[in-house]
Amino acid sequence: MRSLLFGLIFTFISQVAVAGEGMWLPLLLKSLNEAEMQQLGMKLSAEDIYSVNRGSLKDAIVHFGGFCTSELISPDGLLLTNHHCGYGQIQQHSSLEHNYLKNGFWAMDRNQELPNPGLTATFINEIMDVTDRVLAFVNDDMTVSERQTMVDKNISKLRKNFELEEYQDLVVRPFFEGNQYFAFITTTYKDVRLVGAPPESIGKFGADTDNWVWPRHTGDFSLFRIYAGPDNLPADYSDENVPLKSKHFLPISLDGVEPGDFTMVFGFPGRTSEYLPSYAIKQLVEKLNPAKIKIRETALSILDKYMREDETVRIQYASKFARVANYWKKWIGESMGLERTKAIEKKEKYEKRFTSALPKDSPYRTILPEFEKLYKDRAPLAFVRDYYSELTGRNIEMMRLVRMGQSLVSNYENNGEESFIEYRDRVKPSVESFFKDYKAEIDSEVFEALTKLYKSNVDKAYVPRMMHAKNDEDMNGRSTNSSDFVLHHTVFNKKDKLLAVLEMEPSEAVETLKNDPLYKFGEQWKMLYDEKVANPLNKIQFRMDSLQRIYMKAQMEVFPNKVFYPDANSTMRLTYGQVNGYSPQDAVYYTPVTHLEGVIEKYVPGDYEFDISDKLLELYRTKDYGPYADANGKMPVCFIGTNHTTGGNSGSPAIDAHGNLIGLNFDRAWEGTMSDYNYDPTICRNIMVDARYILFVIDKYAGAGHLIEEMKLVHPKSEME
Ligand code: ARG
Ligand code: ASP
Repeated sequence: MRSLLFGLIFTFISQVAVAGEGMWLPLLLKSLNEAEMQQLGMKLSAEDIYSVNRGSLKDAIVHFGGFCTSELISPDGLLLTNHHCGYGQIQQHSSLEHNYLKNGFWAMDRNQELPNPGLTATFINEIMDVTDRVLAFVNDDMTVSERQTMVDKNISKLRKNFELEEYQDLVVRPFFEGNQYFAFITTTYKDVRLVGAPPESIGKFGADTDNWVWPRHTGDFSLFRIYAGPDNLPADYSDENVPLKSKHFLPISLDGVEPGDFTMVFGFPGRTSEYLPSYAIKQLVEKLNPAKIKIRETALSILDKYMREDETVRIQYASKFARVANYWKKWIGESMGLERTKAIEKKEKYEKRFTSALPKDSPYRTILPEFEKLYKDRAPLAFVRDYYSELTGRNIEMMRLVRMGQSLVSNYENNGEESFIEYRDRVKPSVESFFKDYKAEIDSEVFEALTKLYKSNVDKAYVPRMMHAKNDEDMNGRSTNSSDFVLHHTVFNKKDKLLAVLEMEPSEAVETLKNDPLYKFGEQWKMLYDEKVANPLNKIQFRMDSLQRIYMKAQMEVFPNKVFYPDANSTMRLTYGQVNGYSPQDAVYYTPVTHLEGVIEKYVPGDYEFDISDKLLELYRTKDYGPYADANGKMPVCFIGTNHTTGGNSGSPAIDAHGNLIGLNFDRAWEGTMSDYNYDPTICRNIMVDARYILFVIDKYAGAGHLIEEMKLVHPKSEME
């Protein structure tokens, strides 16, 4: 009896401890998760979530533009996603007279909804396990490229079995590092209109200071609507189009959440790497993250200085700064979390168990030693790769134009004049828009600071000659500082000069580009990089990828009772957990729900991150919350849970035990951003806006009650009593 009780307690504890980890395939919920989900409080069946035969929750979940998630919340195609997901569209419709970023935007009827060329909304019709067909005739004796050739052949054969409509697609993706394959039939709508967005002072409240931070007070949402042709099928934008009649949409719960409540988050997580060996994590924490953090910190401090000096610059650089700062901050939290939860030791222990479970003569015995060697060989190369890609691809802006210049030249040299002209005409608009929000002075300072950092941190063997030069005598016989010379004489940081070069006769343009000092500098750097870094690194990476596939298979064989979930790969997944606080450090505990009081506490009048509009202050002062306040009369704003999410999950619905929307996922808590490598239920939390705050802003703040009318508001908790 006693041992039985112990056994029960043990199972209970171990189950509570894992509730949260995993990004599950909707197709496999029945066999892998349904029982546990119901034990945690879910009242639905797996079939209610994913079914091909009838409308199910999955029919309300929409891949937004391919980079975020969104969900239907009305029978008329009304789509909810994050403010930061719709940011580009909101910005594009904004002008000085109609500053929707600053003041918000609300279509007061359907004629006012704004089209967004290029924006797509994709549904998943069906998910199929196609492993057998994709891996047919593949065997362990094949080389990696033989294997890939066979896989590609099988996939194209598979495609022929499906007769797809022009608006449908069949997407086949590897899972578990290529040990399994799943296919997705998708339907994509192309007329997606902007319906509403709160002002940045709500939708981006706290901006970068609060990004990745709990406690959080951001109303990070925006509304769109999917339009279809009169036959309800996808159609290009047209006046004839009508709001989509959807198979399913999410009712919205007005009952809110309490600690311990079941939650699930349904969406399109981008990328995780949960099954890497300890050596990978060690390299990340000790070498790669610190390097990338330092690079971005250096660039950000320069941007910050200029943005503080000049309001125009602040606006020009706001979005760039946010993009660079987003992952800079994430990596800091990630490294801290990996260290704090002793992720490396945890992996090492796991690897010991793995090895000791292997028979003496198992071929798997060589996996980990080989990984150790590969990661060691990779270390210096991966370090330079990160430096190179951060500098040329991200932080030194003009290097991106140099890359365009390189493509122009190679188009000319390999394919002739016409190809040059075709490519030039295609990129010209992006060159113009590059300079719209660009200041050469800032970029030049970033160039100087980052190349200096490169020289002092990267092994000499990888530093191009022109970067070495103390003065440009080595290059041109003059005695100014070499980077001064390059920056002064290049056309790549000067709009008119660069555009003039693009207008020249192709042969002349190519000659001029090739003689440009920054172009030469970029060429020299690229050639050195390709030869000494990219080529050897690709070889190592190639072997690592196939070893990772074998390691994955081996782990599944060695631990047959462990339930594995596949790493995120931008396909539809469900994750579930509970509303729960956490302890970020000794003696500190964060409770899981924030309120409008907290917004007011953070208020800094006139500040670009923490200002509040008069309207919101007024609603707070008069407590005019309508039916959206909680039981204590307070206005909830955000909450956290143990749902395992990552980039791409932004805009995903948080759903209660009955299938109703309770919140909108938009971020993770900083201390747990390591969940991409090592999910730990003690500190990994996803951050959601409370659905009631969204309704309050739409109704009370924006006066867009007509939108509330098309939604379905429910009281699941009170109905149960
Ligand atoms: N951290 C969130 C995510 O990774 C939100 C990013 C947008 N907000 C910002 N301040 N940059 O996407
Ligand atoms: N903010 C992320 C996104 O945009 C979500 C996350 O990384 O947790 O998808």
